[in-house]
Amino acid sequence: MAAAIIDGKAFAATLRERVGDLAARFAAAAGRKAGLAVVLVGDDAASQVYVRSKNKATLAANMESFEHRLPADAAEADLLALVEQLNGDDTVDGILVQLPLPDHLDEQAVIAAISPDKDVDGFHVANAGRLAVGQSGFVPCTPLGCMMLLTDRLGDLSGLEAVVIGRSNIVGKPMAQLLLDANATVTIAHSRTRDLPAVVRRADIVVAAVGRAEMVKADWLKDGATVIDVGINRLPPADGAEKGRLVGDVDYAGASSVAGAITPVPGGVGPMTIAVLLRNTLVAAHRNAG
Ligand code: GUN
Repeated sequence: MAAAIIDGKAFAATLRERVGDLAARFAAAAGRKAGLAVVLVGDDAASQVYVRSKNKATLAANMESFEHRLPADAAEADLLALVEQLNGDDTVDGILVQLPLPDHLDEQAVIAAISPDKDVDGFHVANAGRLAVGQSGFVPCTPLGCMMLLTDRLGDLSGLEAVVIGRSNIVGKPMAQLLLDANATVTIAHSRTRDLPAVVRRADIVVAAVGRAEMVKADWLKDGATVIDVGINRLPPADGAEKGRLVGDVDYAGASSVAGAITPVPGGVGPMTIAVLLRNTLVAAHRNAG
């Protein structure tokens, strides 16, 4: 039987709308809108697209959007000074510094400079630590969005076997933590994992976050598995085409004949990231105003 399609785009639209309604109520009560500051350094094309869509979604959700652009050769001291200024600005509830940063800038130092109370990306060690020990803090947007899709689809995850492929600080590690908190039995697989297909075959839940086009094949999956594909990879252009197709880390066509449910790329996990970012910003606004 063909897998059910997990419609992240529709789920994200509903979440954005709900956050928008709550943000309007916040604005009426607080006398100001919740505010998100986005910092973009340099002119990476993909980052510019992300920042533009964040800006649009923030405004549409009845929040204030502050965009700050620095040149690609900006000094780290200037970036840190901007973050410091945003930390002290009461109209800014959330701060997001778009990654990746140009090579000469120390990403960890910049993330460390963001106030943990405004760290709506959940990247600061204080928030990573809170997630690790089960305290409430900000949780990275992409894994939290994946979790929302999973619990919407499966309900209680207790006792399920989950395999997360990828161990990044932004997706893999927090994803594993969230699944563990939901009482799943969690394995984190990565580039050194032996016999990855055999590991993935155990899983009731597969989260693929490696950044390798169509790496996870149909015959790696257990029948009926729920597959969350975080990857967004562009294939080389087909003959005569200007751009290649966008695909995930999972061979979607093959996997859909084995999986019970699967997120498409595009239209699966991708739209959830911005929706959760807006949700985190509204949470920050309530905390900062309270
Ligand atoms: N670059 C790609 N995704 C993200 C994200 O979720 N947050 C930040 N800060 N940078 C990104």
